[in-house]
Amino acid sequence: MTLPDGPKISPLVQLLKWIADPIDYLDICAQSYGDTFTLQLRNFEPLVFLSHPQAIQEIFTADPKLFDSGRANRIVKPLVGENSLLLLDGDRHTSQRRLIMPPFHGERMHSYSQLICAIAQQVASHWKIGQPICVRDAMQDITLQVIVQAVFGLREGARYQQIIPLLTSMLNMTDSPLSSSILFFRFLQKDFGAWSPWGQMMRRKQQIDNLLLAEINERREQPERIGNDVLSLMMSACDEQGQPMTDEELKDELMTLLFAGHETTATALAWAFYWIHKLPSVQEKLWQELQSLGDNPEPMAIARLPYLTAVCQETLRIYPVVFFAFPRVTKVPMEIMGHQFEANTSLFPCIYLTHHREDLYP
Ligand code: HEM
Repeated sequence: MTLPDGPKISPLVQLLKWIADPIDYLDICAQSYGDTFTLQLRNFEPLVFLSHPQAIQEIFTADPKLFDSGRANRIVKPLVGENSLLLLDGDRHTSQRRLIMPPFHGERMHSYSQLICAIAQQVASHWKIGQPICVRDAMQDITLQVIVQAVFGLREGARYQQIIPLLTSMLNMTDSPLSSSILFFRFLQKDFGAWSPWGQMMRRKQQIDNLLLAEINERREQPERIGNDVLSLMMSACDEQGQPMTDEELKDELMTLLFAGHETTATALAWAFYWIHKLPSVQEKLWQELQSLGDNPEPMAIARLPYLTAVCQETLRIYPVVFFAFPRVTKVPMEIMGHQFEANTSLFPCIYLTHHREDLYP
């Protein structure tokens, strides 16, 4: 059975093009091969990218039991740990996800909104009219503090002071094409001591793990420290057999939420500011809508504003931040949009290419 067509250049060159500029590479491939194409990146199984809405619908409405995802995300294991939701499949994924999700629903989210507003106001209070700011840095500052305070439940004290710079430096180690190469090439993953890139990353990760485990331990010993943050809620949750999450699972899920939620949100916000600044008519309409809520509006009232919601959605359409959904690895032979795929084929619903189709968004 053949895979959809794709570039014939060597897998190493394809991987380098992908690391250097994935958006450009996706655009070039879509122009040459259309809705569905196969990339062969060195050290990876062939990856089939799909961007036709019917193909996306067929994948997302198929029985989820027919796919694995976690095993195709192994590349992020050094950052998030082996118990991460991102790496799990089957029953273990379902059970772990049930334990993590409650803090992210309805009322619970309301309780974080005041904290998020306070952090945003505190960061913005340093801005001076007429003085340029780097919006991406400012948004990273906000989202990191939100995760450390609302998710990890650390607000002050020595542990808070220690973890912020450690997380910042670890996240900075993968924020450019050159530095993120370390995750793609196994030969770079060698610990030659604290000065080698991999050695440095592993030491920082170990320090962060130690701080998180110490925090979890302390909360187990002092139940009065259990609060409303995501870690506290995860520590109180039990699965169907009445089992709570282990310390290692809690630590890995905290790193997962940081990894999944920090850079994504900061980048999306930075692009939103870019477009609002670039398009004065959008800025004006948004400003009027916000003014309509009066002074000190309720955070949830802000979240419900229709034009603000449209601006957020359009920003994510233009730059989806995460270019593709997690791979769906077929567990049995499957047909998607008339194409036959064998078991163990990695299918990537490509968010970026779908969002940029002229037939959907003229
Ligand atoms: C603009 C911001 C964000 C974008 C664009 C984004 C995008 C995505 C995408 C595309 C996936 C893959 C979904 C799939 O293939 O099924 C995903 C998964 C995930 N995201 Fe986000 N995300 C954002 C913010 C966040 C935040 C703030 C958190 C939590 C603090 C978070 C936690 C997760 C988790 C835990 C998963 C894995 C879910 C699972 O495996 O069951 N994300 N995200």
